[in-house]
Amino acid sequence: MVRRQLAAALAAVALLSSAAQAEDAVKVGLILPMTGQQASTGKQIDAAVKLYQAVNGSTAAGKKIEVILKDDTGVADVAKRLAQELVVNDKVAFLAGFGLTPIALAVAPIATQAKVPEVVMAAGTSSITDASPFVVRTSFTLAQSAVPMAEWAVKNGINKVVTLVSDFGPGIDAEKSFTERFKSDGGTVIESLRVPLRSPDFSPVLQKAADAKPDAVFVFVPSGQGAQFVKQFVERGLDKSGIKLIATGDVTDDDQLNGMGDVVIGVINTHNYSAAHDSAANKAFVDAFKKANAGMRPNFMAVGGWDGMHLIYEALKMTGGATDGDTLLAAMKGMAWESPRGPISIDPQTRDIVQNIYVRKVEKKDGELYNVEFATIPNVKDPVKAAKK
Ligand code: DHB
Repeated sequence: MVRRQLAAALAAVALLSSAAQAEDAVKVGLILPMTGQQASTGKQIDAAVKLYQAVNGSTAAGKKIEVILKDDTGVADVAKRLAQELVVNDKVAFLAGFGLTPIALAVAPIATQAKVPEVVMAAGTSSITDASPFVVRTSFTLAQSAVPMAEWAVKNGINKVVTLVSDFGPGIDAEKSFTERFKSDGGTVIESLRVPLRSPDFSPVLQKAADAKPDAVFVFVPSGQGAQFVKQFVERGLDKSGIKLIATGDVTDDDQLNGMGDVVIGVINTHNYSAAHDSAANKAFVDAFKKANAGMRPNFMAVGGWDGMHLIYEALKMTGGATDGDTLLAAMKGMAWESPRGPISIDPQTRDIVQNIYVRKVEKKDGELYNVEFATIPNVKDPVKAAKK
């Protein structure tokens, strides 16, 4: 009898404390394209967020961090509705994710109105951080990669280029920032080609690029489209034309690189993250990520998700668990840490990421294709915002 009473009392205590914990939980609304064309971005970031919690525990500042994952299907209107529900019904302290620029932009007014930090883990158009004072970015901007690619090209005897980009925010940023730097360094852009974001067919533009006979084609396509691009590049015979392929690292994406075949060996590209980045932190990250995900290799999207979680955890630690948006933003501004990609920080003025950009060459190592870093441009701020000042 006594034992039964004790058991009942213990059960009641357990219930109460789990209720208290649930009440005390800090909720993170994670909005990602888990289905649709950009599903690989969702899959990578979701895996990284789960790994972050597995490695670092599910509490910060004594509070349980509860991640609520929602699938925006890659559609901005869906993301907007989900963000509204997460703020109003779930009372999330953070909105995070954002696999595409139009999605990050659609949610920005909600972040502003609700004073909820919007942690952009994927999208890369420069203007996103201007859309709300509550946006903080842990991904990258396209200008960060495109400018060093232009500099490298001119220094390495590439004088005539055709640009080929996906026709939306990050592609237009990549085209513009590459072209400006390439021209000011003495190069000529002979044609600027764009392909639609949705279900692109690269064949017609590749034919135009081939006909223009440039030294190189500079390419940006979003994560998940690189393999299809390379396939059509080969089908059109550009690999045998003597026209070089140069790109932002979105094209030689670690998620797909191995499947692209030896034709990409030697491709020079610029980006913020390679799974082959040589550091102890990255080795631990890649090993743990592969182990938890049936061998899947993390890409630059995964690293944006991992660091976004780090930013959330560390901001909460700094505020002692306080979750009002202004206090969290103050904690996030200027934060610096070592990411699997190398040293990074949040620019306190722009809330955008400051990070190394690496010049890489695709090489085969132990039978697998990797982006092998051979030059580093340290602490790169978003060139678009830097130019405005
Ligand atoms: C964006 C999406 C991508 O998949 C990528 O590689 C770069 C930028 C974007 O929508 O901003």
